[in-house]
Amino acid sequence: MPISIKSEREIELMREAGRILKITHEEMAKAVKPGISTFELNKIGEEVIRSYGCIPSFLDYNGYPASICVSVNDEVVHGIPSKKRILKEGDIVSLDAGVIYKGYHSDAARTHAVGKISDEAAKLIEVTRQSFFEGMKYAREGCHLYDISAAIGAYAESFGYGVVEDLVGHGIGQQLHEDPQIPNFAMKRRGPKLQAGMTLAIEPMINMGGYEVEWLDDDWTVVTLDGSLSAHYENTILITKGEPELLTR
Ligand code: MF3
Ligand code: CO
Repeated sequence: MPISIKSEREIELMREAGRILKITHEEMAKAVKPGISTFELNKIGEEVIRSYGCIPSFLDYNGYPASICVSVNDEVVHGIPSKKRILKEGDIVSLDAGVIYKGYHSDAARTHAVGKISDEAAKLIEVTRQSFFEGMKYAREGCHLYDISAAIGAYAESFGYGVVEDLVGHGIGQQLHEDPQIPNFAMKRRGPKLQAGMTLAIEPMINMGGYEVEWLDDDWTVVTLDGSLSAHYENTILITKGEPELLTR
């Protein structure tokens, strides 16, 4: 499928989907503390989304059994919330959520510290966040898609981190996942030209150790193969002729 260009009306709806998701993340972030379960974080996120009359897009997506992905420590993404999984001081937790507002999607993820964490873990979270912004330098009309990918990957790798390759960012709009796929590492070519009106979910997933991941037997949870910590940072963005507009920030 060609990469869709959104109309001004569609962009307005995606801005609202993004605004509600930003608020959802703010509310979940406040609740991240030692002693809370990943199930409770899911509940808070789902309640905020529904309080705006929106639908949590992950619920039942390909059978996913919850509204929020809550991934702890070596879990990269798609951790399934559980009453038995209690966060403890020193953990890191990645929260990934999606909202549908009037048929349009937003998607964003953040990794948080649980209480006091090690300097190494804090650095992983910060570098992952910054890798997204390194990519943003190329997220504008006139650049090519994989310029973003290359910038993200080069930045994360310069710290010796592993850049996950098995999962990628994506176009977004009337569907959670639209074309194109957006790797977080350099490709041989520069990829499609970016155009104003494209809406993209850019989401570096960065491991403290090796880049390899595996899937747990629950068929969802992705973990680092070497057991090292992993962080995730994602926003839905709008390509413009100038600076990108971050719809979920
Ligand atoms: N943010 C993820 C993505 O972009 C979450 C979707 S997984 C789901 O692919 F199945 F839980 F929805
Ligand atoms: Co996504």
